Amino acid sequence: QKTLPATVLTIFGATGDLSLTHLLPTLIHMEEHNLLPTTFKLVCVGRRDLTTKSFFEFFTEKTTTKFSPQVIKKFANRVTYFQANLDDHQSFAGLAQVLADKQITKQKHECYNRLYYFATAPSYFASIAKILKTQGLLIGCTDHERTIRILVEKPFGNNLASAKELNKELLKFFNEKQIYRIDHYLGKETVQNLLVMRFANDLFEPIWNSKYIDHIEISVLESLGVGNRINFYNQTGALKDSMQNHVLQMLALIAMEEPKDLSPESIRNQKLKVLSSLVPFTSKTISGNVVRGQYIEYKKEAGQVTNTETYVALKTEIKTPRWKGVPIYLRSGKRLGKKVTEISVHFKKQCELFGSERKNNVLTFRIQPDESVQLQINNKIPGFGIDLHSGTLDFGYKTAFLTEIPSAYERLFLDFIQGDQRLFIRSDEIEASWKFIDSIVNNWNKKNAPLQKYVSGSTGPKLSEKLVSKNNHLWWTK
Ligand code: BG6
Repeated sequence: QKTLPATVLTIFGATGDLSLTHLLPTLIHMEEHNLLPTTFKLVCVGRRDLTTKSFFEFFTEKTTTKFSPQVIKKFANRVTYFQANLDDHQSFAGLAQVLADKQITKQKHECYNRLYYFATAPSYFASIAKILKTQGLLIGCTDHERTIRILVEKPFGNNLASAKELNKELLKFFNEKQIYRIDHYLGKETVQNLLVMRFANDLFEPIWNSKYIDHIEISVLESLGVGNRINFYNQTGALKDSMQNHVLQMLALIAMEEPKDLSPESIRNQKLKVLSSLVPFTSKTISGNVVRGQYIEYKKEAGQVTNTETYVALKTEIKTPRWKGVPIYLRSGKRLGKKVTEISVHFKKQCELFGSERKNNVLTFRIQPDESVQLQINNKIPGFGIDLHSGTLDFGYKTAFLTEIPSAYERLFLDFIQGDQRLFIRSDEIEASWKFIDSIVNNWNKKNAPLQKYVSGSTGPKLSEKLVSKNNHLWWTK
């Protein structure tokens, strides 16, 4: 393993849900597997009045992940809690002291990389950047330059205008190479595999187009509800929480042209072309092509009637020569029958010999759980006639690879520490995604788009079946 640079990581929003359920457990897991830099300090910034010790107790109480006491002890030695309130910039006055390298490491002085993780509500992102600047936290000492990077959680903005504004604000303090806009789906092994599957297997490229592909479906289905994130979710909804980022990023990877190399810029250039080629909805095209839903129990969970969608399904098209006329179905929702994320590529029938009744070939990328790639094929049923059977060629990760699959956040933390932006999103990609999403929100607002109710544990609103069936399709992911 490469030597990782000496790093001081500061998490803003350290007592929040994301930090407690994902970030801290991931860092401890990395500790357990010796994946952290030898010199690594973590500064946890939160509003709660806690000491480093009581912060750790608070975390241990909240987390469901189990670690050995030895690992926790080793990790705890790296952590300092810093209490401050983002609405009161003065409360950050002591942070520079805490981050000062000598004090933190007591080792030979060099300017350690300073990494800042913005894990707060998005409305604070621009403030944090200002605080870092005014508190002198972006500079090295008089002898050394310092590497500074920031990692910004999603949602990045709330629409195109606010995303542009946020980009503008952040670019006042950092350059694009320092900004890591996260979408944890890009860190998932199976999502990274999309690039490899497509461009390391020569049989796919010649048939990866409208001549051979009938339609594509991406489904991100969840069985859990919103839980204790109701306030956040009420301002976001399924469209902005999942479609704008996770779903569109996977679409970009499945639909993009071959990048000229594996550099972050080449890959992001190609993703951008897909995102910019999505056809925005108009007041005419939105009818019948977008379904918004809410599970019945949401009202009780939210404590009031709200207009937040917990489900969204849509049919769109990518206006590029490769994809002209190919329906793209995208779907994401909460409290559905099960948790599963899949991308399925449905091929057209080309041969007529066995009639139209035989099944289409379908290539399915099972992103999670039970990670796999499956190809639906037709075979002859053994016997004296010629009867067809539709079965699956199944490449399952669990049987093919005996090692543990690294978690998305683990991979992304390592990339952040090492300065690799390949799995992070560039400003123009974010803006192109918002442009598409805005076209939906604006038309929903204009039309007072109704919410289709659905029962928890079901497959979602009835109307979403119609969305696909009018083209004689069915949702593939069940
Ligand atoms: C997050 C969303 O980005 O992704 C959550 O904010 C959602 O609402 C989660 O539950 C799903 O992630 P995963 O990795 O569990 O599929």
